[in-house]
Amino acid sequence: MTAQELRKKYLDFFKSKGHTIIPSASLVPAETDASVLFTTAGMHPLVPFLLGEPHPGGKRVVNVQKCVRTGDIDDVGDNRHLTFFEMMGNWSFGDYFKKEAIEWSFEFLTGKEWLNLDPKRIYVTVFKGYPSTNSEQGIPRDEEAIKIWQETFSNSKIGINAEIADDDGIIKNNIRIIPLGLDDNFWIAGATGPCGGDTEMFYDTRPSKGKIDGQKFSDLVDSFRLIEVWNDVFMEFEKKAGGSVEKLAQQNVDTGMGVERTLAILNDKESVFDTELFQPIFEKISEISDKKYEGNENSFRIIADHIKSATFMISDGVEPSNVMRGYVLRRLIRRAIRYGKVLGIDNNFTQQISETVIEMYKTPYSELEKNKDKILESLGKEEDKFRETLEKGLKILEKEIRQLSWSGEKAHDVNGISILDSIPIWRMKKSKEKFPGKIVFDLYQTYGFPLEITKEELQKQNIEIDEKGFQEEFQKHQELSRTASGGVFKGGLQSQDKQTTKLHTATHLLQAALREVLGPHVFQKGSNITAERLRFDFSHHEKMTPEQIEKIENLVNEKIRESIFVICKETDVETAKKEGAIGVFESKYSEKVKVYSVGEFSKEICGGPHVQNTSELGHFKILKEEAVSAGVRRIKAILE
Ligand code: ALA
Repeated sequence: MTAQELRKKYLDFFKSKGHTIIPSASLVPAETDASVLFTTAGMHPLVPFLLGEPHPGGKRVVNVQKCVRTGDIDDVGDNRHLTFFEMMGNWSFGDYFKKEAIEWSFEFLTGKEWLNLDPKRIYVTVFKGYPSTNSEQGIPRDEEAIKIWQETFSNSKIGINAEIADDDGIIKNNIRIIPLGLDDNFWIAGATGPCGGDTEMFYDTRPSKGKIDGQKFSDLVDSFRLIEVWNDVFMEFEKKAGGSVEKLAQQNVDTGMGVERTLAILNDKESVFDTELFQPIFEKISEISDKKYEGNENSFRIIADHIKSATFMISDGVEPSNVMRGYVLRRLIRRAIRYGKVLGIDNNFTQQISETVIEMYKTPYSELEKNKDKILESLGKEEDKFRETLEKGLKILEKEIRQLSWSGEKAHDVNGISILDSIPIWRMKKSKEKFPGKIVFDLYQTYGFPLEITKEELQKQNIEIDEKGFQEEFQKHQELSRTASGGVFKGGLQSQDKQTTKLHTATHLLQAALREVLGPHVFQKGSNITAERLRFDFSHHEKMTPEQIEKIENLVNEKIRESIFVICKETDVETAKKEGAIGVFESKYSEKVKVYSVGEFSKEICGGPHVQNTSELGHFKILKEEAVSAGVRRIKAILE
């Protein structure tokens, strides 16, 4: 099945169930919606209608929505993560609820004239609920969804009596229904808004690998044997600012089914990258680089995904810049160019990739063709700019590497492919010296060469950085800049407890890091700072993985090491908002507010006080991550 056939089938199916087909909304959310940077799910532009406003299309709508989730940027390259994807969804605004939603999902998945998937390979999760506490009313297990699923499985051609998994999540006998808690089966788009328990459908992608009996459901998902294809959310609650969850006046349905994953399953492909939504892009990359996809999967995938995202973002009006959306776009383009370099591409190529993307997607998304000139021009300009930086920086890096003295000893295996392929010989030897910290600093400070590239490249060449020299250079620079720009910084630090102030700045870095790693749905829900620790509550509906915690710690510590000045600017709320500051916009528009920025990394409306430079913070460490209530997590962290 082709992608276009799949999109059409979905729309046709729900049209036959009385839904109005609506177009995909822009990737850039409406001005009035400051809760997300990009449209991350089909329901996002539909929030007002889930809350009760009448939709011009009536109470049932369906569409295919372009979405961007950049929380996953570092995961792109495995077999299912993407920054750009399309979500097919159907909605009920206070009309049908669980019964129709589940029955139609099953009919569309398994119906002969629809997707014709094998019902024997379908497993579903339902919301397990959570108990009441003194302060909060619990939500019971979704017995209604369980009963509907049991009837659906029983009435289907496989006619099984679907059983429910125990708490251990082991699949055995006729177990088809797995109840899971808040972290898995409760959905909310941002910090607040319409939300509810959900039921998710999974498909066994490799039955030929033997029975799954006796295995744990979560292990089967982690190993991609079971892939989630569809999520039906029963939105009957609204989460208010402050954390309370209240019943909505109407019961809604919000569903989401990924085009890329579904297409992979329908065509028996192991990964989304093996589908027609990537193959033509890979052919183009192969043609430009004269390299094969096999053996270079990581670079091919990153380039394809990122330029696809960038093409759609520019088409929707985003321009590369150093703040917020523009910064995300810039990061995607630069990351793609860098991986192009890994493939040996030294000339501008993003425009050619983008042209392929436009060709592939112009049928459902006619705006791409309309905005083609703008897209190509913007990509070209950004690539020119970055290539200049990249070439200059790499030349310096290469020259300095050559100047190190080398032992004849063979170094350990090279860790990944280097973009410094012009000097492969060094990789066979071991550097006797550390790489000078001053050069690392200069590359970054003077030439704007991304620090992560220097670090990664040196690591790949088995060269250690002189961290101490690097830190010293930072300190020196800091003193100089401080003298030069005295008076720019505000904040009555003397009267405040120094440690609390440091933790306060660390809280800003933490929030920015959380938003970068987990996604733009993260917002502060509460903060409490003592002289010993910070405590930060934020919107996020899943337990964080140890890898995410580590990534966040590393990111905050990287910003501390980068010795960035904390700058305070007084402005009015409207300007602050326009500039992409986050925080509570409760003041009147004309009122002055303080906006604290840490380079391009963090920008928040806040009363202060803060430290002058992130280098004052020391080392940041997360002690604990836990749930506070539905969709709210808490982090406790210290500065050592
Ligand atoms: N909004 C739901 C999701 O994104 C359907 O999974």
